[in-house]
Amino acid sequence: MCGIVGYVGRNNAKEVILDGLTKLEYRGYDSAGIAVVQEGKINIKKHVGGIENLKNLIGKDPLKSHTGIGHTRWATHGAPSDINAHPHTDEDETIAIVHNGIIENYIELKNVLTEKLNIKFKSETDTEVIAHLIGLYMKDSDTLEDAVYKATLDMRGAYAIVAISAKDPDKIVAVRKDAPLVVGLGKGSNYVASDIPALLKYVKKLYLIENNEMVIVRPDKVEIFDENRRPIEREEFNITWDADAAEKEGYEHFMLKEIYEQPKSIREAITRRLDESGKLKMDGIALDYSDLNKIRKIYIVACGTAYHAGLVGKYLIEKFAKIPVEVDVASEFRYRDPIVDDSTLFIAISQSGETLDTLEALREAKRKGARILSVVNVVGSSVARESDDVFYTWAGPEIAVASTKAYTTQLTCMYLLALHMGLTLGRLTEEYFNSFMEELLEIPAKLEDYLNNSKEIEELAKKLYNRDQVFFIGRGLDSAISYEGSLKLKEISYINSFAIAAGELKHGTIALMEPGTLVLALATQDFLYEKMLSNVQEIKARGAYVVAVAKEGNEAIEAQANHVIYIPNCSDGLTPLLSVVPLQLFSYYVAKERGCNIDKPKNLAKSVTVE
Ligand code: G6P
Repeated sequence: MCGIVGYVGRNNAKEVILDGLTKLEYRGYDSAGIAVVQEGKINIKKHVGGIENLKNLIGKDPLKSHTGIGHTRWATHGAPSDINAHPHTDEDETIAIVHNGIIENYIELKNVLTEKLNIKFKSETDTEVIAHLIGLYMKDSDTLEDAVYKATLDMRGAYAIVAISAKDPDKIVAVRKDAPLVVGLGKGSNYVASDIPALLKYVKKLYLIENNEMVIVRPDKVEIFDENRRPIEREEFNITWDADAAEKEGYEHFMLKEIYEQPKSIREAITRRLDESGKLKMDGIALDYSDLNKIRKIYIVACGTAYHAGLVGKYLIEKFAKIPVEVDVASEFRYRDPIVDDSTLFIAISQSGETLDTLEALREAKRKGARILSVVNVVGSSVARESDDVFYTWAGPEIAVASTKAYTTQLTCMYLLALHMGLTLGRLTEEYFNSFMEELLEIPAKLEDYLNNSKEIEELAKKLYNRDQVFFIGRGLDSAISYEGSLKLKEISYINSFAIAAGELKHGTIALMEPGTLVLALATQDFLYEKMLSNVQEIKARGAYVVAVAKEGNEAIEAQANHVIYIPNCSDGLTPLLSVVPLQLFSYYVAKERGCNIDKPKNLAKSVTVE
């Protein structure tokens, strides 16, 4: 969603900001803009569409300045347009701001500003309200930070706001509440951003700004204050990713690069958790026997792809730890008064750690007494910070909107977590654990092998890319994977795809089967194989074109399916880490054939920080 970059220092602010915004493009946006302080004035350039449009608008204008802010906007209040793009200013254009989040009481505030103070609004955004408020308070404040602080007292909602003032050219003031904000620490230059990838090229050290904090950033000084404006000491956060982690490195798209990175990221997620003797070390998770023994129920709550990882997690935890698990979509969980108390373990899964629905669901469960564990990719994100136990996926930056390596590392973490629970509770024998771990450790190499021989998927996509709709079916763990396969395809190719448990087909969906209907049938579970064969037979009888996914050696399905994709052989419980990959590749190549914008699909955002 929206992205923020701010710079104050010795270099040309425009270059740093445009470069940082480019790094945030992956989050999804529909307009972009920049404001700098130039010769005692605010100079703003903003344009609907991509950063290229903004660069064309800037043209040869050097926008020479050492202080500036930039933004990529994902429209919420008001359509994508030049006027609605950020930055926004007050009436006198003495200050400029960019904002991520939503101001809930903006209509109320806008009415007061227009009716009582006769302020004329240019845009339809909630953000412009903040700009006018700060502008008003500037009139009787000594500093920009005083005015920003006063404005925050009037606002309700979620925000990361970054402001500059024409009267105070060497300073950026930023505040946050429920929207991420980091400060990059350079030499004679400091930076502000909504996400770390924007700053990877420039800094190795950061301050993670917490909720309700304000930060004043100057070229040689960064000061953080709490909500009562008391100064705070913050530990520096060291970035371990290098700048290359957020580059395409020769791949045509980030998505393809990230698909191919999966063997490495899965391996990393496992080996970081094994000590020399092969025992699990659950960094960030302090759940011991007495904690686990108290737990009567587990909720796994997440959105999108992370929710699909939760579906697999339920299967694993129930199998290994024998604790009942419910999996919920975060936007539903938070509004349905779930039964939660101190015998509940709440597991949030989130790549970004900033998805608002997931965060609010977590807070709701916390209020009701649950212990909060999160499986998160972005270190120091809000979900991580608000959890009792954090299990990082260590996938590195994921740039493509469609999640791939974050998903398979989430799955990997769910395996480790479920095994840890089962072992600690004595519901799993050491022997079982050892042989399962041995097999789990073989998965990255098997996946590498598969990826090196996956050319057939590209061919298949060339043949099938022109379909209007696709169905995904499976049973047991395959059913969870079919949901993810279907989501991947619709996200990036815009084909209407639909996933359903194969056993449920007969209760309605089979009515849609016609000659030529494309169905991807996952049949990787040995104990359900024959049942799947029957389901495939039923849809074949209605003329469906079936592409099956099966384990090497299980060839009976060839008699039914039009095409079979074979994944390396492994135990039923481990197939998700392998079977999802051909589906990711299929979606990728179908989207490519259809000429879609693969890394930045229309209307979607990488991190959804609004409801
Ligand atoms: C968006 C992204 C999805 C992601 C979902 C949840 O919809 O496009 O890829 O699965 O948000 O995001 P999270 O960061 O919480 O995993």
